[in-house]
Amino acid sequence: MLEKICMPIKEELKQLEDKFKSVIETDIKLIKDVFTYIVAGKGKRLRPIMLLLCSGLNGRPTKKSIDAAIIIELLHTATLIHDDVVDNSNLRRGNPSVNSIWENKISVLIGDYLFAHIFDTLVDFKDTNLIKIISNVSTQMSKGELLQMERAQNFQMNEQTYMRLISFKTASLLSATCQIGALTSEPSDGSHEENLKTFGNSLGIAFQIKDDLLDYSGNEDNLGKPIGKDLLENIITLPVLYSLNQTSEDKRKEMLAILENGYNDQFDKIIHFVKETGGIKYAEEKADFYIQKALHCLESYPDSPYKQSLLLISDYITSRDK
Ligand code: IPE
Ligand code: IPE
Ligand code: MG
Ligand code: MG
Repeated sequence: MLEKICMPIKEELKQLEDKFKSVIETDIKLIKDVFTYIVAGKGKRLRPIMLLLCSGLNGRPTKKSIDAAIIIELLHTATLIHDDVVDNSNLRRGNPSVNSIWENKISVLIGDYLFAHIFDTLVDFKDTNLIKIISNVSTQMSKGELLQMERAQNFQMNEQTYMRLISFKTASLLSATCQIGALTSEPSDGSHEENLKTFGNSLGIAFQIKDDLLDYSGNEDNLGKPIGKDLLENIITLPVLYSLNQTSEDKRKEMLAILENGYNDQFDKIIHFVKETGGIKYAEEKADFYIQKALHCLESYPDSPYKQSLLLISDYITSRDK
């Protein structure tokens, strides 16, 4: 499905891949080794794809759209490197995570290096608006991860906080991605910026809810990252949150006791509980609700291959298995 989605921006994506490889120029071998490793195991490139499609929806993608998409993908990459350290995760994109090969301390520094590089490059754009969007989104994402960590310490979570947290850690970046798509397209028409920002935000929320669902019901080989990891790290996401609120006080206590003890080999029991009490269904419906919200933002645009791909991507976000 992603291949079809990418048809209208094939040429731009090819340029992006070529440039991405050599975006980090350094004589420090350690940085070179880690970055070469990252380039070799690429992800879905969902954010660059969305940025370029949003540029097309509004006019056409420019060289600046491609450069901005590289910045966004680097930002995403840096957050994943840090995220795997804080989540104690040893698998990413089907390969050992950076922290499992080079240790945590190197991962932290490489993530920092990428952040620094991003802002260094960003200044050369001489576009205050763009600098502001990217700085803002970096702050939001950090806030999201820290809020999650704060709540993970005592299993404290409610739906409102969950929504706030995923808006910060994930939707903020997808929102900025789509906004920048509008901002860098030619001809540029500022009037679409707000609309596409909202579009990206809704898709981002649906995207993280689906990611959280995949942590329960996904397949590790497809996903290329461990499943069942969130609960092991005390991260309460929407499916279990809903189920814990639905069930009897006794059952709630029983399940929390399992979760607090790191659940060992009782993952099947948790899955069964979450399914039985409607947590999976509820989270799926919530994700669909945000997809519908996103689709609404596309209604005003005339039909085009870019629009068709954005419609497909909305579908892909909740049907994907990776
Ligand atoms: C993973 O994002 C992190 C989340 C926000 C859930 P992706 O699923 O887009 O990761 P890659 O880039 O394809 O590996
Ligand atoms: C998203 O959360 C991480 C960021 C936005 C940095 P997750 O921790 O759920 O992402 P995965 O599942 O490790 O990819
Ligand atoms: Mg993680
Ligand atoms: Mg996850």
